[in-house]
Amino acid sequence: MEPTTFVLFGATGDLAKRKIYPALYNLFIDGKLPEAFTLIGLGRRELTNETFRSNVEQSLRTYSRREVQDPAGLERFLQAFRYNVLDVGRIEDYLKLLQVIEQREQELRITKPNRMFYLSVGPEHFETIAANIQASGLGSAQKRLVIEKPFGYDLQSARDLNQKLSKAFSEEEIFRIDHYLGKPMVQKLEILQQSNPVLQALWTNRYIANVQITANETVGVEERAGYYDHVGAVRDMFQNHMLQLLMMLASHLPNHSDSEMVRFKKKKVMEALEPVQKQEISASIIRGQYKAGTIQGKPVAGYLDEPGIASTSMNDTFIAARLQIDDYFWRGVPFYIRTGKRMKEKSTRIVIEFKEPLKETSKDAQAQDHTQAPNLLVFEISPDEGIMLQLNTRDPKHKGEFKPIHIDFHESHEDTPEAYENLIHDALNGDPKFFAHWDEVELSWQWVQPILDAFQANTVPLYPYEAGTYGPAASDALLAEDGYHWWFDE
Ligand code: BG6
Repeated sequence: MEPTTFVLFGATGDLAKRKIYPALYNLFIDGKLPEAFTLIGLGRRELTNETFRSNVEQSLRTYSRREVQDPAGLERFLQAFRYNVLDVGRIEDYLKLLQVIEQREQELRITKPNRMFYLSVGPEHFETIAANIQASGLGSAQKRLVIEKPFGYDLQSARDLNQKLSKAFSEEEIFRIDHYLGKPMVQKLEILQQSNPVLQALWTNRYIANVQITANETVGVEERAGYYDHVGAVRDMFQNHMLQLLMMLASHLPNHSDSEMVRFKKKKVMEALEPVQKQEISASIIRGQYKAGTIQGKPVAGYLDEPGIASTSMNDTFIAARLQIDDYFWRGVPFYIRTGKRMKEKSTRIVIEFKEPLKETSKDAQAQDHTQAPNLLVFEISPDEGIMLQLNTRDPKHKGEFKPIHIDFHESHEDTPEAYENLIHDALNGDPKFFAHWDEVELSWQWVQPILDAFQANTVPLYPYEAGTYGPAASDALLAEDGYHWWFDE
């Protein structure tokens, strides 16, 4: 792997502590960091290198998926960490940083500098930082920019942001993190489809009745009222994570596909997504907001009673949608997507429900037996990872009756890398496959924009739902209209 200077803006922030340092440490244990690796942490606070390292160590002890056991290894890992004070708006600070980096590159005898700028800061700083990286000369080397969502607030602001970033970084140099693309099961969707003719052959409207993509969370707004009350579930989860899951699932990939091909196919899915018409929004989009309720035996407050939320807020904490992909493979197959806070359980999964040929073709009453169930293929994404296939067989005790059986595969969590490990490793290798390309981001905002407008104008109902449930009844009705129901709501 190429020598890398990892320049981390927001080095004292929450994301760095919870996700980035533990991810780097686990990559280090697995021998997946470059030999010549330096991390320069940046923040407004004055910190010595020693204090910074001890803070990093603390975060590993608290958040690393694998315990910190080898003191010598830990010491070697921490030696790569340095800290610099930086005010994002002060060009002088960037010039000083450039000196520090160049000195370090010389010490390590790096002849071809390679710098990765990771912006673990609010999006309001992206533009300033990118411009200062360029103006200071920090960017005059091989470089990459890693940024986290949100990429904009709506279509226009996303375009503005991208235009500003592109003055300092080319598209090939920008790695937009959508952490759902780092989840191991999501990364496996590609390989599952490519290497299994059994799935390949079925991946069409000929066999598939509908697809259900769910990301339920039990947490509420937490301490993020200031952010969440402005964005809602539609911007926080739907525009990015949920549409990324849809793209990953619905893409038809050739057997050998590189990053470019994967992203090209994802873009094709977005282009084929039927735009939701203004007058149809209420019929295909359900927005909800949680009321007080009980989750796993614990009473929880309603959204409007959460600290920092205005008592009149119309913000969405739940969204369900019916989408149609108008292409050769998927025409006529509804894709149902839902995500919400304060739901009954934490679960992210994709359910593929197959057509029922017996029901469709047979007039025989026995074949219509209520015990017959459709074939289901389920990808469990989190918290557990797994794949389940539901087939029909015959119940030996009740001759003639169908009996659904489950072929189940579950993976243990302990040995599975976390999303951030996968993504940081890919970014270090310069592999953009599991990062959101600008085209995907732009098309997602474009698709979502009429919904944002309708929410803003309050032209769609806001359905209250009790915390600890699966969302408003209108979300069930959305599927019932088509003769379906959400699977696994128990
Ligand atoms: C984040 C959202 O992107 O994803 C959060 O901002 C949400 O609101 C989180 O809780 C969910 O991620 P995960 O990995 O726990 O499903």
